[in-house]
Amino acid sequence: MKIFIDTANLEEIKEAADWGILDGVTTNPTLLGREIERTRRDPNDILKNICEVVPGPVSAEGISLDTDGIVKEGKELAQIHPNICIKVPMTPDGMKAVRKLRSEGVKTNVTLVFSCNQALLAAKAGTDYLSPFIGRLDDAGHDGMEIVDQILAMLENYAFETQVIVASVRHPLHVVRAAELGAHICTIPFKVIQLMFKHPLTDQGTKRFIEDWERAKKI
Ligand code: E4P
Repeated sequence: MKIFIDTANLEEIKEAADWGILDGVTTNPTLLGREIERTRRDPNDILKNICEVVPGPVSAEGISLDTDGIVKEGKELAQIHPNICIKVPMTPDGMKAVRKLRSEGVKTNVTLVFSCNQALLAAKAGTDYLSPFIGRLDDAGHDGMEIVDQILAMLENYAFETQVIVASVRHPLHVVRAAELGAHICTIPFKVIQLMFKHPLTDQGTKRFIEDWERAKKI
């Protein structure tokens, strides 16, 4: 399973890239807006820097809801770097935009997917990626991972090339379940990636090895 990081924070992205685990990045207007407020930097410069750090797809999202607006914003964002992939809303206008962007060689990621039917429509429209938002489904009292399971089976049944990005990940168990189901990609917040490293037995074991070695050296 590929690991993307779900943030626009350049320090977090650089740190995760240094760990050698990073295959791509997802941003959204909330995440990029947070970085603009924090750093006072230009959003396009932030996206360009992210693309320079990670040699994989970087999802960027505009705010237009009509087809022409999505395509215009998408084409502008795609100029920033060849690895930019445009997030498109899961709407009829969004699906028209997917087709247009695709015909112009711009990759798309259909976002805010909450059902297998939405995923089917996005795959039929020809999107490269689609993102079911698992945490938000869990928050609404559904099992988000059930939707991922259905979507993966549907894509396989008909040999679609669209890849699933498990998104809105809240904790390490979401990542485990995404990998068990064979999701193509999981996009994970920095804090959750940090938690994935953790196990109390690793900490205890490391401490014990050092203590035993230091004691033996004194003999
Ligand atoms: C994915 O591409 C989105 O940016 C993200 O996963 C949304 O997560 P949230 O539900 O925590 O806002």
